Amino acid sequence: MRKIAVANRKGGVGKTTSAVHLAAGLALAGRKVLLIDTDAQGHTARLLGLKPEKGLADLMEGRGAPSGAIVQARPGLDLLAGGKALAGVNRLIARESIRPEEQLSKALAELEGKYEYVVVDTSPSFSELGTNVLFYATEAIVPVSMEVLAAEGLVSFSEEIRHVQEYHALAVRWILPTFVDMRTRAKTEQILDGLRGKYGELVTFPVHYSSALSEASAWGKTIWEYKARDRAAEDYAKIAGAVA
Ligand SMILES: Nc1ncnc2c1ncn2[C@@H]1O[C@H](COP(=O)(O)OP(=O)(O)OP(=O)(O)O)[C@@H](O)[C@H]1O
Ligand SMILES: [Mg+2]
Repeated sequence: MRKIAVANRKGGVGKTTSAVHLAAGLALAGRKVLLIDTDAQGHTARLLGLKPEKGLADLMEGRGAPSGAIVQARPGLDLLAGGKALAGVNRLIARESIRPEEQLSKALAELEGKYEYVVVDTSPSFSELGTNVLFYATEAIVPVSMEVLAAEGLVSFSEEIRHVQEYHALAVRWILPTFVDMRTRAKTEQILDGLRGKYGELVTFPVHYSSALSEASAWGKTIWEYKARDRAAEDYAKIAGAVA
C-alpha cells in the first residue's frame, strides 16, 4: 500500500487539485484508492461534488468503525473527508503525551493493506495533523506554483521534511510545478530553472495553468469529467500514470 502525501506549507499552490486528480486518475486506471483530506477547509469533498456527513475527524475521535467514516466518491475511489471538525482533532493530538506525531498512523492502522494507494491532501498551515501526515506517508509530492515566493518557501518545507526523515522513511518523490503559464514564459522558465538547479531530477513535468480546473471544481467534477480534452486533463493523466 503506497502512502502519498501531497504537501507544501504554502497556500494555494494546487495541493488539493493535485491530490484529487492523482487519486481519481489512479482510480480511473483501475487501482483501489483512498483519498484522505487532512485540511479543515474540507475542499477535497467539494471538488468531487460530495458533502459527506462523516470523515477523518470521526475516525480519529473513535466514533464507530473506520469504514463508517469513509464514503465512496467514484468507482475505485474512497474518501475520508476533512472539514471544520478537524480543529478538534488537532487539539486532541496536542494533548497526547506519547508519540503525538503518530496518532494519524495509529488511527489508520486498520486500513492497512485495504487499498493500493492512499493519497493525502494537506493543509497549508502548520498543524499537528500536518506533522502526523508526514509521519504516516512514505512518499511526498510537493506542488509548487510558479511564483518566486512559492519557490523560496520550498526551502523551509524541505527542512521540515529533512527533520522528519531523521525518524521516519519519507521520500520526496516529486516537486510538481503547477500553474505553469506560457503567457509569462520568461518568469516561468526562470523559476523552473531555479527549481531544477536546486532539486534536479525531482522536478517533474508540469501542470499548466488552466481555468477549466477551477470551473470543474465549481461543478464538483474532475477535469476528465468536465473537459477531457483540456491540457490539464492531459497533464494530470501523465502524472497519475507516472506515479502508478
Ligand atoms: N493548474 C491550475 N491552473 C489554474 N487554476 C488552478 C490550477 N490548479 C489549481 N487551480 C485553482 O487554484 C485554486 C487553488 O488551488 P488548490 O485549492 O488546489 O490549492 P491548495 O494548495 O490546495 O490551496 P490551500 O493551500 O488553500 O489548501 C483553486 O481555485 C483551483 O481551482
Ligand atoms: Mg487545499
